[in-house]
Amino acid sequence: MKQEMIIVLDFGGQYNQLIARRVRECGVYCEVLSYQTPIEELIAKAPKGIILTGGPNSVYDETSPHYDKALFETGIPILGICYGAQLMAYSTGGKVETATTSEYGKTDVKVICNNSLLFGGVENETVVWMSHTDMITELGSGFVVTAHTDKCPVAAMENAEKKLYAVQYHPEVTHSIKGQQMLSNFVYDVCGCKGDWKMADFTRNTIEEIKKRVGDGKVLCALSGGVDSSVAAVLLSKAVGKKLTCVFVDHGLLRKNEAEEVERIFGDEGEYDLNFVHVKSSERFYEKLAGVSEPEAKRKIIGEEFIRVFEEEAKKIGAVDYLVQGTIYPDVIESGLGKSAVIKSHHNVGGLPDYVDFKEIIEPLHMLFKDEVRAVGLELGLPEQLVYRQPFPGPGLGVRIIGEVNAEKVKIVQDADAIMREEFAKAGLDKKVNQYFAALTNMRSVGVMGDFRTYDYAIALRAVTTSDFMTAEAAEIPWKTLQLIMNRIVNEVEHVNRVFYDLTSKPPGTIEME
Ligand code: XMP
Repeated sequence: MKQEMIIVLDFGGQYNQLIARRVRECGVYCEVLSYQTPIEELIAKAPKGIILTGGPNSVYDETSPHYDKALFETGIPILGICYGAQLMAYSTGGKVETATTSEYGKTDVKVICNNSLLFGGVENETVVWMSHTDMITELGSGFVVTAHTDKCPVAAMENAEKKLYAVQYHPEVTHSIKGQQMLSNFVYDVCGCKGDWKMADFTRNTIEEIKKRVGDGKVLCALSGGVDSSVAAVLLSKAVGKKLTCVFVDHGLLRKNEAEEVERIFGDEGEYDLNFVHVKSSERFYEKLAGVSEPEAKRKIIGEEFIRVFEEEAKKIGAVDYLVQGTIYPDVIESGLGKSAVIKSHHNVGGLPDYVDFKEIIEPLHMLFKDEVRAVGLELGLPEQLVYRQPFPGPGLGVRIIGEVNAEKVKIVQDADAIMREEFAKAGLDKKVNQYFAALTNMRSVGVMGDFRTYDYAIALRAVTTSDFMTAEAAEIPWKTLQLIMNRIVNEVEHVNRVFYDLTSKPPGTIEME
């Protein structure tokens, strides 16, 4: 039986992939297509329903993205959201005008239709997320108003007979308290879906698609050991096996045992049958970094050297047909209106290498959010440790060592960081704190160890809670845990005689310490 599908028709709003993700959370497969997709193509996909997204335009403006009015006569259930709602009104004979004041943020809405399928299980008064200036002022024929707010007379409308539904607000964002319920109502009660989609299907289908696409082609992947590139590499290896070469550049700035871990999973002894190239290039990086202490200069050196190493390896392999990138949806910078996305560099320290001879890019995760990528990783049998790895900067420990970087300092920060991570895991803090690590300050001070005076470094511990990584607070760590970590670090890590805890929030600080 054909898999159920909902199509999200993209009119350039910022939450388009989020809508798709919410539908997938309902257990129904969902794809985002541009509003420029011809109607025949849309119908040929036989979707169970279509969702029209928000967008920055005004429907009454001739140059705004519109859609063939015949769409509303196909009998396919449609849900219009924000701009999509206005487009539905406009295309079915209603009217849209600019409101005198915009409505933005959490808004009380009154549901005035008790038997609307869209509002099953939703209270008559609920809170939704609004973001609009234009509003529907006249309904198309056959429509009724199903909800309103103080300022917006048509917060929701429907023509149940034709299965056309529209909401002015954004059910897909969590601020809309019953938003997910409404989307689920649309998917199940209006479109009649049964919910036949699981992450396992995504994994299986993606592997099949890649197999077909690649054929006998050669594929190259830059593997950083991070979640995204690892999951992308495994998908590719399951699809094309030895036609894939994974290049892992070890810049000598990875966390303790990290390179060995990546080698264990992806190397010859691992379970994936791919050509794994482990480029051990620490010395090269340390040489370039010698004598450099300015943070941006260090970042630049690491980024550039990374690309040079990758290029050299690519040259050895010769021309390839495909280059794999672990781009995920939040990396995709939307240029709006469903136009193509700007591609993130394969490793977040620089751009694409100048010299890699390839024809096309494969980005198997480009429509997924981080937690969905993690679900795929678990599905593929990647170890939890890797799947739930913390964010790690591209320049690695290079930006966790303040001042000049050298092999000795790398060892110090690796050992201290490993202790901190171990103790956080023991105390159950690893699941509560979003990012934590040890950094090496460039400060040395006098101490005593046994009968000796020491003149050694200070380690700074950093632990933050954050939801978006744009702002962050220092996490409240139990004193006992801090003491334990301090004790172990000064005793077990050579050349450290002091430990600090960084209390700074972001802003004015950043998460990393350099
Ligand atoms: P900040 O310190 O800017 O870090 O609050 C936020 C997140 O970004 C990561 N980060 C970097 N990633 N190159 C990267 O690719 C960098 O130079 C860099 N600096 C910070 C960091 O891991 C944190 O999660």
